[in-house]
Amino acid sequence: MSKMRGRVLIPLPNTGAMGRKRNNFYMRSIFILALCIFGLLQYHNFNYLDSRDAMLSESITNDSVDAIMSMVPATLHKYLTPHTRNHSISAAGLQLNSSGSSLGGSGSGAATTISFEVYRPPNNTEIKRQIVRYNEMQLVLNEETFGPLQNDSVIIVVQVHTRINYLRHLIVSLAQARDISKSLLIFSHDFYDDDINDLVQQIDFCKVLQIFYPYSIQTHPHEFPGVDPNDCPRNIKKEQALISNCNNALYPDLYGHYREAKFTQTKHHWWWKANRVFNELEVTRFHTGLVLFLEEDHYVAEDFLYLLAMMQQRTKDLCPQCNILSLGTYLKTFNYYTYHSKVESMPWISSKHNMGFAFNRTTWTSIRRCARHFCSYDDYNWDWSLQHVSQQCLQRKLHAMIVKGPRVFHIGECGVHHKNKNCESNQVISKVQHVLRIARNSHQLFPRSLMMTVPSLIKKSKLRKGNGGWGDLRDHDLCLNMTMPTR
Ligand SMILES: *[C@@H]1O[C@H](CO)[C@@H](O)[C@H](O)[C@H]1NC(C)=O
Ligand SMILES: *[C@@H]1O[C@H](CO)[C@@H](O)[C@H](O)[C@H]1NC(C)=O
Ligand SMILES: *[C@@H]1O[C@H](CO)[C@@H](O)[C@H](O)[C@H]1NC(C)=O
Ligand SMILES: *[C@@H]1O[C@H](CO)[C@@H](O)[C@H](O)[C@H]1NC(C)=O
Ligand SMILES: *[C@@H]1O[C@H](CO)[C@@H](O)[C@H](O)[C@H]1NC(C)=O
Ligand SMILES: *[C@@H]1O[C@H](CO)[C@@H](O)[C@H](O)[C@H]1NC(C)=O
Ligand SMILES: *[C@@H]1O[C@H](CO)[C@@H](O)[C@H](O)[C@H]1NC(C)=O
Repeated sequence: MSKMRGRVLIPLPNTGAMGRKRNNFYMRSIFILALCIFGLLQYHNFNYLDSRDAMLSESITNDSVDAIMSMVPATLHKYLTPHTRNHSISAAGLQLNSSGSSLGGSGSGAATTISFEVYRPPNNTEIKRQIVRYNEMQLVLNEETFGPLQNDSVIIVVQVHTRINYLRHLIVSLAQARDISKSLLIFSHDFYDDDINDLVQQIDFCKVLQIFYPYSIQTHPHEFPGVDPNDCPRNIKKEQALISNCNNALYPDLYGHYREAKFTQTKHHWWWKANRVFNELEVTRFHTGLVLFLEEDHYVAEDFLYLLAMMQQRTKDLCPQCNILSLGTYLKTFNYYTYHSKVESMPWISSKHNMGFAFNRTTWTSIRRCARHFCSYDDYNWDWSLQHVSQQCLQRKLHAMIVKGPRVFHIGECGVHHKNKNCESNQVISKVQHVLRIARNSHQLFPRSLMMTVPSLIKKSKLRKGNGGWGDLRDHDLCLNMTMPTR
């Protein structure tokens, strides 16, 4: 970059006045001039993009479906195209009415001979059966194509709830990442859904394994860990709860509220998944490499694995005390021009570093020894609980190496429990696409080396009491039970 800047500072003559004399001197001049103009353009580009980059959070990008599709290679469109199961039903319905159909006419001739089956979603019994089957089989898809998992390969674990639209984009981003074919992609589901399963099973760019959280609200709709009819309502007063003798009347959270199943599920799922991946799956038995944690509404840059490998290699000399590597931050604006190859290190903070982080079995083993802290801390957030573990229990606290130019982005504006009006909007996806395109076109991805920067002033993260929502002893027990060895 500095080289580029140095060159373009040469003042330029007016190009319009160039004569047409054909001799070597002029040819050379033209060539040099062209170089200079090119350089100048680049320089302007830099400045322009720099400010544009900073403005990106406010600027309007085209977030129409067409525009977003146009940024995705055609071979990956299949992951973005929903195959709604009701399509066949409505098609059949339309066919029966024969004439006057407003359909595009696609396949109308053949349709008369095909008998459409009406799609019935699986019932609860069937879902439970399938979950047991999947979890017992531990079938690794695409293993024939990509070979067995190496002990030091990266395992990517994605926690999936129900937001299939975001998941589609995550998969598209993963598909474009360098070295993705060497990794194992594990999807951990707390909701069984045929459409989500179809999407995941369509993946053909790396090994894939699906695991299913077995204590979900979906499979326990009227009993713990779902909502038991006799559970105390969230806002009931303790005295009243005791009189009505509802479940766990004795154990409201530290703000006096009773358990809400949907809020406890995410923490349970996180803990179950980590235990499952490190301690129970056959395929990971000898795995010593990194496990990277993602969620359904994340989006990765194409160099995220490249960077992760580099950070892992450099840990020993750049940050010997680091035991967790973080690829994402919640910046409002992204400035790859100054940050693309920079890393910093600091104590792991849940609210800053809970996205796209990775650690190996060594770190996990120490966390797992603190299960009691994780499982009984009165906070329904897994990340706050993990920070609590780090501060209160670990001998070697969680210390993170963090990329300053994020490689994992959060595209799910709305969170699991929020229903804003703009939730289906593609705005953030579109913005991330643009940020990455700019970074790619100006060669800011795949840096050749890493640079450790002095971290910006770290506020001492003070110990806080939990956010509550985790006072029910049944939750503590269930969480602890998941820590029992089953392999
Ligand atoms: C967005 O992009 C689509 C397809 O590229 C185009 O048809 C549409 O006019 C664009 N909309 C705006 C507001 O630029
Ligand atoms: C299919 O249609 C049924 C009833 O019309 C609806 O309840 C269900 O949500 C639809 N499913 C999908 C995947 O669109
Ligand atoms: C098809 O026919 C049924 C019954 O005759 C009618 O209720 C329905 O609206 C028709 N559908 C279309 C798309 O015309
Ligand atoms: C659930 O689905 C299975 C298989 O589709 C079926 O055999 C069973 O009878 C269904 N059970 C109930 C309670 O509907
Ligand atoms: C992984 O490590 C185990 C135990 O050290 C060893 O038996 C196995 O061969 C290794 N597998 C691979 C693929 O390197
Ligand atoms: C696991 O990570 C720790 C740092 O947290 C490192 O010291 C150790 O060498 C790593 N283990 C392996 C097998 O890579
Ligand atoms: C935890 O395990 C114990 C012993 O197996 C069992 O009695 C208890 O019901 C389990 N608790 C939960 C919440 O699953």
